[in-house]
Amino acid sequence: MAEIRRIGILTSGGDCAGLNAALRAVVYRAVDGYGWEVVGIHQGTAGLLARPVDAEVLEKSQFTGMLLRTAGTILGTTNKGDPFDYPLADGSRIDRSEEVIDGYRQLGLDALIGIGGDGSLDILRRLAVQGGLNLVGIPKTIDNDLGHTEVSIGYATAVNVATDALDHLQPTAASHSRVMVLEVMGRDAGHIALSAGIAGGADVILIPEIPYQIAHVAAKIDALKQQGRNFALVMVAEAVKREDGEPVMHTQASGAVTYGGIGHYISERISEITGAETRITVLGHVQRGGMPTPRDRLMASVFGVHAVDLVARGAFDRMVAWTGRQVVDVPLADAVAGYRAVEPEGALVRTARGLGISFGDR
Ligand code: F6P
Repeated sequence: MAEIRRIGILTSGGDCAGLNAALRAVVYRAVDGYGWEVVGIHQGTAGLLARPVDAEVLEKSQFTGMLLRTAGTILGTTNKGDPFDYPLADGSRIDRSEEVIDGYRQLGLDALIGIGGDGSLDILRRLAVQGGLNLVGIPKTIDNDLGHTEVSIGYATAVNVATDALDHLQPTAASHSRVMVLEVMGRDAGHIALSAGIAGGADVILIPEIPYQIAHVAAKIDALKQQGRNFALVMVAEAVKREDGEPVMHTQASGAVTYGGIGHYISERISEITGAETRITVLGHVQRGGMPTPRDRLMASVFGVHAVDLVARGAFDRMVAWTGRQVVDVPLADAVAGYRAVEPEGALVRTARGLGISFGDR
């Protein structure tokens, strides 16, 4: 087994709360536990593409203060610029994967810990296979859609923020006799909407995994009114489609296509059908910031320590995971292939139905 002296770490894909806590855990464990040097690579794989390579040695002293409690990532990150399909200014695309691999070699790294979601861990794994890099993955995504782990860093904080939003919306909804629509992130999965919807007392939860009919949503709101309720809370996941089956998406200046805006559509349709006064809140990137919850800090710490221990054991091409109250590790290939959406017959959907929450499907 190759001797480990110097490891790299990078954050990739969209940021979320808890990344700095994970960096801290990796640095503490690597430095104190094994006497290694830890190199933080800036802006995900973009740091390995830059010349000179954009990276810094991370010291324990950087992490003694606020970083455990602070969202974002001190290393920076990117969810653009796939090195296998790298966009050039003239619109063409080229493969720059060998440059990334060369960047890893220039840093003299013995192993790399990559913190990412399904897309970015998949890219890192392909780079590792191609270049023979010693890679260990740590799961992070507010979308919570990675397979083979019950927990990804960032999800708990996003659910907290979304629940908090419902807590803030309920009193004003009741004061003005309004239907409040809250649109949350999650890309193609409805995990945030479902969990925060239950925790925050939503009356309706619309998620991409369960097709809705607006007539059923309107009927639920009318029924609440007949029961004497003067307000309603409607949670909508961003990837929910319009009634014609079209998602609401935007092409950003960079060419990236993002969700956002279905809540406006749902809000207008509810108002048209029920006559209720509606208002819409699109929560957006607020869900990615905020102070990481204890759960996210805890999991980030667990994952960071275990990832370093895997490197020490030479157990590469694996992702740390949490399952059955244990930290485990799984083949990285399985993790990125095992996309996990909301199960329409799963425990949380059954719980919501048991609470009388409508998914707009019946
Ligand atoms: O994957 C995380 C996520 O926040 C999604 O929930 C959302 O759809 C997307 O990223 C937004 O991406 P961007 O940061 O590029 O706007």
